[in-house]
Amino acid sequence: MVLNRHCQIQTLSLHSEEIMESGAILTRVHPNLLNLSRTSLNFKFVSPIQLQKQSHFGCISNYSNGNNNNVNSLRLRVASPTSNLALEVADIDWDNLGFGFMPTDYMYITKCSHGDNFSEGELQRFGNIELSPSAGILNYGQGLFEGLKAYRTDDGNILLFRPEENALRLRVGAERMCMPSPTVEQFMEAVKATVLANERWIPPPGKGSLYIRPLLMGSGAVLGLAPAPEYTFLIYVSPVGNYFKEGLAPINLIVETEMHRATPGGTGGVKTIGNYAAVLKAQGAAKAKGFSDVLYLDSVHKRYLEEVSSCNVFVVKGNVISTPAIKGTILPGITRKSILDVALNQGFKVEERLVTIDELLDADEVFCTGTAVVVSPVGSITYLNKRVTYGSDGVGRVSEQLYSALTSLQMGLAEDKMGWTVELK
Ligand code: COI
Repeated sequence: MVLNRHCQIQTLSLHSEEIMESGAILTRVHPNLLNLSRTSLNFKFVSPIQLQKQSHFGCISNYSNGNNNNVNSLRLRVASPTSNLALEVADIDWDNLGFGFMPTDYMYITKCSHGDNFSEGELQRFGNIELSPSAGILNYGQGLFEGLKAYRTDDGNILLFRPEENALRLRVGAERMCMPSPTVEQFMEAVKATVLANERWIPPPGKGSLYIRPLLMGSGAVLGLAPAPEYTFLIYVSPVGNYFKEGLAPINLIVETEMHRATPGGTGGVKTIGNYAAVLKAQGAAKAKGFSDVLYLDSVHKRYLEEVSSCNVFVVKGNVISTPAIKGTILPGITRKSILDVALNQGFKVEERLVTIDELLDADEVFCTGTAVVVSPVGSITYLNKRVTYGSDGVGRVSEQLYSALTSLQMGLAEDKMGWTVELK
């Protein structure tokens, strides 16, 4: 890592024993992060992190992010309620962000033993983690993940969207997977700290979001099938744009009739990592045929809609918006739940129930929802070699209306009457 030596640096180290290592990262941390870390947050920074305040904000730091990518930081003036300092944003091509992994500066990590509770965690420089080859996650898939996003707003704030919902869903999943889980408060503190520590990776307003990926895993070694003796809760982040390569244009789905995503009594209703590996084969085959993704049917009757590989599905008929009810095989999406409320507020009738394949083929409009995909309109569905198209190539009226209402809330462009957003500044 190369430090720009032209900057005057005033060190605000949290731990006096931390010694600035040669080539240490030059990171400007928002004053709020310092406050949080000293007071309300129950975590600590560990070496080699240095919290530094640059007294000369005109400097540009150039460093390698540890993945042989040279990253430049440039200045962006962000008006903030608490500060009028010029904050850095990473110098990347913000106009062409896709949904791909990009390493950032810090990750949050905490561990606990089986039967214990998670306690103090710490922010570490982002990097690889070490696991025993016999770790529960590697051998028996004992792991869950979450996904949520942080948005930079026009007035310099940072918004999280319904993070408590992710915390609660993780706790439900952890119970199903025999794992300890962080409390809602711990989860919230860890997410906030990770986002603030990686603030320069949050895309400028309108260019995307910072995707936050909490992981909960059995990290201890086991050989006989049993819960792992140790657990790790980790959060990393990555700036993202649109999930589908189509961007906001309608996607083309194929209905899978042989492979299933989930079965009754299984783990389809929680965000276990294995649910996602299980769909790769069908998804790969669909993509090879030119489809965007796969829509799964229930495994018993092969007649009712379940969900798409990475998102929930909705059908629109007249003024009624229907989506498969949560019944153990369908992920209780936070965007799904939010869209149901937004649609209700907009005067639609919403229904959570069994939705048949015939209703899908007869719908006026179809769209998908998820944290990563947000609201994605569906342009066509192919089922048993029959292709049904929706609208005339453009984005459906209802999908567009709901997308706009939801993202306005998420990005702080509309008044949040629901109290869904959490401001970080
Ligand atoms: C999300 O939408 O956040 C997910 O977890 C789906 C994932 C496959 C990207």
